[in-house]
Amino acid sequence: MDKLKISILGSGNLGTSIANGLYESGIFKPENITLTRRKLQKLEHMRDKGFILTDDNIEAVKAADVIIVAVEPQHINKVLVEIKSGMREEHLLISVATGVKIAQISEQIGNSCTIIRAMPNTAVAVKESMTCICYNKADEKSVEIAENIFNTVGKTLVIEEELMSSSTALAACGTAFFLRAIRAASQGGIEIGFPSKEAIKMAAQTAKGAATLLLTSENHPEFEVDRVTTPLGCTIAGLNRMEHEGFSSALIKGITTSAEKARNLYKKNEK
Ligand SMILES: NC(=O)c1ccc[n+]([C@@H]2O[C@H](COP(=O)([O-])OP(=O)(O)OC[C@H]3O[C@@H](n4cnc5c(N)ncnc54)[C@H](OP(=O)(O)O)[C@@H]3O)[C@@H](O)[C@H]2O)c1
Repeated sequence: MDKLKISILGSGNLGTSIANGLYESGIFKPENITLTRRKLQKLEHMRDKGFILTDDNIEAVKAADVIIVAVEPQHINKVLVEIKSGMREEHLLISVATGVKIAQISEQIGNSCTIIRAMPNTAVAVKESMTCICYNKADEKSVEIAENIFNTVGKTLVIEEELMSSSTALAACGTAFFLRAIRAASQGGIEIGFPSKEAIKMAAQTAKGAATLLLTSENHPEFEVDRVTTPLGCTIAGLNRMEHEGFSSALIKGITTSAEKARNLYKKNEK
């Protein structure tokens, strides 16, 4: 991996977060990583870390084994057409552009290089993203490279492409759902006596602790809930009240609504 040459086309929020993740992992060398964007001066801070900077996407493609396309969906076609002449069949192209399907990318590129799609979330910035990746046909090595890259900014799961819009709802929109849950908990905390700042800290750390319990033990959530809910206790009283008010139902309905919306957005993008 330390010899792998990677170019990130469109190094904005996500692109630079991935670059920093690769850099800090120690597995990938910054001198093997090229970053592009049109306003190159905005990337100057990355030069100090040893990354190569250019505003020439074709030059970046020619220098790379792996190309990560991290531009906004509305810019991707322009970039794909631009780099077409520099693309080789041996290239691995990873696209993080929301809603742009492998078939659409392949059509623009016009050769049979390996294409993998990835859907991270905004927690890439703190290396805690849940990233889903998918491919139609890819060799084991390419999948391993994609997993290694996204494991530097969180956790990675391989899924079918038809589930990418569902993954957007659960794991990308999901960041907002859990943030809102934390905000609601903190509002409850204020009502029972804590100043806002302390209430948010307490709610966020409690949420983090609950998530960590699940991720480290791999227990079912109800197993962990059972451990906190003593008979006649205050936890079960609060929990049941929340359920009477539609807590689980609201979350499930929100996720299915977002997934439906994401599926329709994708259809619009195809036109
Ligand atoms: N942020 C996330 O957590 C997240 C999560 C999941 C998926 N995504 C997807 O990831 C992609 C990037 O998201 P983002 O939040 O990083 O957006 P962003 O901050 O706007 O970054 C995109 C960058 O692409 C550059 N760009 C545009 N046209 C270009 C071109 N022709 N050549 C080179 N660079 C070009 C832009 O810089 P210049 O204007 O300087 O060129 C911009 O900084 C989007 O498709 C988004 O849907 C993001």
